[in-house]
Amino acid sequence: MKYGHFDNAKREYVIDRVDLPVSWTNYIGVEDMCAVMNHTAGGYVFYKSPQYHRITRFRPNGVPMDGPGHYVYISDAEDGDYWSVSWQPVGKPLDEARYTCRHGLSYSVYECDYKGISASQRLLVPLGDAVELWDVRVKNNSDRTRSLDVFSYCEFSFHHIDMDNQNFQMSLYASGSSYAEGVIEYDLFYEEFGYQYFTANFEPDGYDCVRDRFIGNYHTEANPAAVEKRSCSSSTEKGGNHCAALQKKLTLAPGEEARLIFLLGEGRRADGQRMREKYADPAAVDAAADALAAYWNAKLTKLQIATPNENMNTMLNTWNLYQAEINVMFSRFASFIEVGGRTGLGYRDTAQDAMCVPHSNPKKCRERIEQLLHGLVSKGYGLHLFDPAWFEPETEEKPFASPTVVPVPDAASRIHGLKDTCSDDALWLIPSIMEYVRETGDEAFLNRVIGYADGGEGTVYEHMKRILDFSAEQIGAHGVCKGLRADWNDCLNLGGGESALVSFLHVWALEHFLEAARCMDAADDIEKYEAMYGRVKHVCETELWDGDWFIRGFTKSGRKIGTHTDQEGKIHLESNAWAVLSGAATYEQGIKALDSVDRYLYTPYGIMLNGPSYTVPDEEVGFVTRVYPGVKENGSIFSHPNPWVWAAECRLGRGDRAMKFYDALCPARQNDMIEIRESEPYSYCQFIMGRDHTAFGRARHPFMTGSGGWAYFSATRYILGIRPQLDELLIDPCIPAEWDGFTATREWRGAVYHIEVRNPDHVMKGVRSLQLDGALADYIPPCAAGTEHTVVVVMG
Ligand code: GLC
Repeated sequence: MKYGHFDNAKREYVIDRVDLPVSWTNYIGVEDMCAVMNHTAGGYVFYKSPQYHRITRFRPNGVPMDGPGHYVYISDAEDGDYWSVSWQPVGKPLDEARYTCRHGLSYSVYECDYKGISASQRLLVPLGDAVELWDVRVKNNSDRTRSLDVFSYCEFSFHHIDMDNQNFQMSLYASGSSYAEGVIEYDLFYEEFGYQYFTANFEPDGYDCVRDRFIGNYHTEANPAAVEKRSCSSSTEKGGNHCAALQKKLTLAPGEEARLIFLLGEGRRADGQRMREKYADPAAVDAAADALAAYWNAKLTKLQIATPNENMNTMLNTWNLYQAEINVMFSRFASFIEVGGRTGLGYRDTAQDAMCVPHSNPKKCRERIEQLLHGLVSKGYGLHLFDPAWFEPETEEKPFASPTVVPVPDAASRIHGLKDTCSDDALWLIPSIMEYVRETGDEAFLNRVIGYADGGEGTVYEHMKRILDFSAEQIGAHGVCKGLRADWNDCLNLGGGESALVSFLHVWALEHFLEAARCMDAADDIEKYEAMYGRVKHVCETELWDGDWFIRGFTKSGRKIGTHTDQEGKIHLESNAWAVLSGAATYEQGIKALDSVDRYLYTPYGIMLNGPSYTVPDEEVGFVTRVYPGVKENGSIFSHPNPWVWAAECRLGRGDRAMKFYDALCPARQNDMIEIRESEPYSYCQFIMGRDHTAFGRARHPFMTGSGGWAYFSATRYILGIRPQLDELLIDPCIPAEWDGFTATREWRGAVYHIEVRNPDHVMKGVRSLQLDGALADYIPPCAAGTEHTVVVVMG
């Protein structure tokens, strides 16, 4: 069953049936202001932080589903009937009214057609301005003149997620609203900078700022009293709950269309006036939309592909990079699942997210890497969750401080000890640094001096060494890296037990680091870390091989985890993928290990994390054994590690297998099975219920997941094989044998390469010849910025 389709020409996903089983979301805004909105205009907007600078209120995980939102109502004077431009909140029967939602890149459009009136509401946040524009059109398609009232509505938040959800004794009396000259101003008295405005490009015929006056007692957003009686009541107040309702009376002749612009912005009334003038002319709104399209186009054109796999083209050319970029921009904590209760950066997640976008967002990639380097403790481990602002110079802006006294931890207690350290966190940063350098050629970055979280400073290169040394020191009885609080798997809590995954990551990070050491000509380091590489690899080979696959580690008491005699958690995805991807496994081991993954863990919706799921709690293994079977970390199809297997298969040269696994997880491929998937087909989800769950195949938690970045990374760098190196653009595809080839356009260090890969012998891997601008070449060097080149790769 399907609910919509991809419109690739417009880079939009069109939801034709809006009665979806769950919210399908989008992210509106790419700078400081961002709204998370669903397919019926439910959602919330925040400024800089979803935790302490929220603008509109959201009642998460509630009934009705995912509201309130940013709504526009229309009421008809003829018969008093009313509806909303988005299907919810009024929810007209779908056999009487036609609704669609189009999610585009940083904008969404809600459309409805009812009783001869078509209307649409486009939401976008222009580049450079912290204002959400609601671009509303109302058209009379009937043959008679119609008198309509149009109302905006959204509910203001008390700015801080906690203040919105608990202890109202202060907040309820500290927020106020006022109306003057067409602009609603909302303020939170606690905060010097806590102002928002709501206005429109017309003179309103009515307004309400007090929520309960607009909605009315014993009414809801589905039937606001003001809309029912087609009249606002000019309410404002100091204290209470506030909203932004502006009313406009329209008289439309047959065929006539009105266009109204509403503006919801950060700042005071004067800022609202300024924005009102700036966007008074709808042409300015169209220009803002064009600028946003150009912004995304500039990113997406860094790599565009045409392969025989249409779903892959759709994902890689638009949606997968979009998701990866959003993760880097908003760092995981703004969605309908993570509703802003956490803020800051998760160490491992941010490091991996940053690694995937150096070509499309080098600035943000570098900024994130620098923030993580600041969050590194001098002993070489990362602060698992930290606020980069802790390590930034004080700004003019005062931090949010609630008058309800909550003790603020002092700087020293922000640095957690080993007990809270995740053994994998900082290892991810080394490849991210190297991917940034390979993409940009900015080798000088390695010499940049950056402070440690607990004091002192060192170059980026020195930070990398501390990370590697930490992992070399933190080893257990078998010489394998300790698991500590957790490794990549939050629910595997091994403490002093050992994690195969982390030792494999150590090998991988060492391989990346050695490239930096060679590039710096650091003979002593090359010697030291080559020896370390050899030692760790040896331990991996001797201690972790189980005969048909690699184990997941050892418990504190020395028991193997993920071995053939285990009845539950017999085999795990992470260690087997990384054994191969890191290069630690021999070819024969790699083939056997990934064949076992295919045999025990593959499903038509992707690869499960472990199997069979745990059912018996085991304290030595950790929380994973208490998670319901087939859910999240216990035997679900956890999406993030799936692309590790694609890349690992490519390292073995098995393009058919890589594509089988790619296709299984591909959201676009599940477009027509929404009765099973339920979630967005344009976004990877954090997990899909595994075989051991009754809802096998149901996807949950879109957008904010490491699979966004990793799917893009593995598919482009390993399957398509386009991998920037320090001084060449390597093209080393690993594709299905049946492909005749593919084409791609890749921008690298300012030059554009038009790449054609031919596969006349129908192999899966191997390059027989390479041509650059018509001449045979051994490799593709960085060409001058601004130039364009043709590359022909013949496989064989
Ligand atoms: C979540 C966390 C991530 C972790 C993963 C597996 O996605 O954000 O850090 O690696 O779960 O536990």
